[in-house]
Amino acid sequence: MGSGIARVAAAAGHDVIIADAVAGATQRSQANLAKTMDREVDKGRYSRDAADEVMSRIKYHWEPIGDDLSPFRHCGLVIEAIVEDLETKRTLFRRLENVVTADAILATNTSSLSVASIASACEVSGRVVGIHFFNPAPLMPLVEVIPWLGGEMTIAPAAYALMKQWNKTPVLATDTPGFIVNRIARPFYGESLRLLDEGVADIATIDWAMKTFGKFRMGPFELMDFIGNDVNYAVTRSVFEAMFFDPRYKPSLTQKRLIESGFFGKKTGRGYYDYRAGAVVPVPSQDEALGRQMFDRVLAMLINEAVDAVFMGVASPEDVDLAMTKGVNYPKGLLAWANEIGLDTVLGRLQALYDEYGEDRYRPSPLLRRMVRDKQRFFA
Ligand SMILES: NC(=O)c1ccc[n+]([C@@H]2O[C@H](COP(=O)([O-])OP(=O)(O)OC[C@H]3O[C@@H](n4cnc5c(N)ncnc54)[C@H](O)[C@@H]3O)[C@@H](O)[C@H]2O)c1
Repeated sequence: MGSGIARVAAAAGHDVIIADAVAGATQRSQANLAKTMDREVDKGRYSRDAADEVMSRIKYHWEPIGDDLSPFRHCGLVIEAIVEDLETKRTLFRRLENVVTADAILATNTSSLSVASIASACEVSGRVVGIHFFNPAPLMPLVEVIPWLGGEMTIAPAAYALMKQWNKTPVLATDTPGFIVNRIARPFYGESLRLLDEGVADIATIDWAMKTFGKFRMGPFELMDFIGNDVNYAVTRSVFEAMFFDPRYKPSLTQKRLIESGFFGKKTGRGYYDYRAGAVVPVPSQDEALGRQMFDRVLAMLINEAVDAVFMGVASPEDVDLAMTKGVNYPKGLLAWANEIGLDTVLGRLQALYDEYGEDRYRPSPLLRRMVRDKQRFFA
């Protein structure tokens, strides 16, 4: 992630310094960037000169960085994209604040930790902010900007404006578990896993349904295999725990067993699907009625999550829809989709699930109920 973010900043005209704690990491980063920029030139997206200029703006700290963070002393902005471990991040921020100038902004790219828990390590913590990119950073337009409780009022707007200058699509999110995207996307995986666990359909049929009726680029099982089941499960668990075990975010035992078996997805050759040579590719049943029913159920859960994020003040309706289309390529914003289907229809589907299962997981958001009662629509 660090290398990708560095390329975005350099492409926007900034001088960038990359450093890493592990020997050889910055060398690999430079080699990867050179390869990627060659590809960009081949594809005609960059001229050779422009690509060379971007690369020339990035300076690498070749030695593994230890306690001495002085290479960052002249930086106006430092974006931390190190290992997702709270204590390691806190230690880094504590050291960073001692070397940078008084007006430097310190940002974290954390996906699953609270910005507050990292920022509070600093003595002068008001200049810390979350700037959360999506992978790969040069390709994905979305950036979640996350102010925290102790942040200075000017810092998040400054980060937001800077991301616009960097040609990104910034959205504002509160410092809550999963921010916008990693919270609202949970049912795409979770409800699909639930369908699998209940034996409603197999993985190929569920993936087929979401792609055919929802026009999602990848089905949930293909996507989990692509992301890595270890990574996807870790995010699910962290959101579940951080939400004080709200059943809406409950992880699936099926996914846990997969990880225990070492089936992490594409990278290990096996996940939900088998990627080894000669493996039989499962064929979806293509039962249209079943496909539609499953798609309607997963979509209702996604919309409920999006509506509830608005209800709980995580982000504005506009930013919720931008986040899901620009951060994870959803074919439509979920709230615009809700308008299209009819909020009353979505509420009806959720209520039917709630009545059938009696589980809190299916409770409709109070905002959805309220809007249906008052005959409101989003963006009206
Ligand atoms: N991978 C993603 O899709 C993604 C997306 C958004 C945000 N993030 C976040 O970005 C951060 C990095 O993720 P990643 O996937 O690039 O991880 P990664 O493990 O690929 O890279 C982390 C790098 O940090 C280095 N590092 C570890 N401890 C360090 C320290 N104390 N000082 C300096 N460098 C140190 C490691 O050597 C490694 O090169 C995490 O906080 C993650 O949550 C990741």
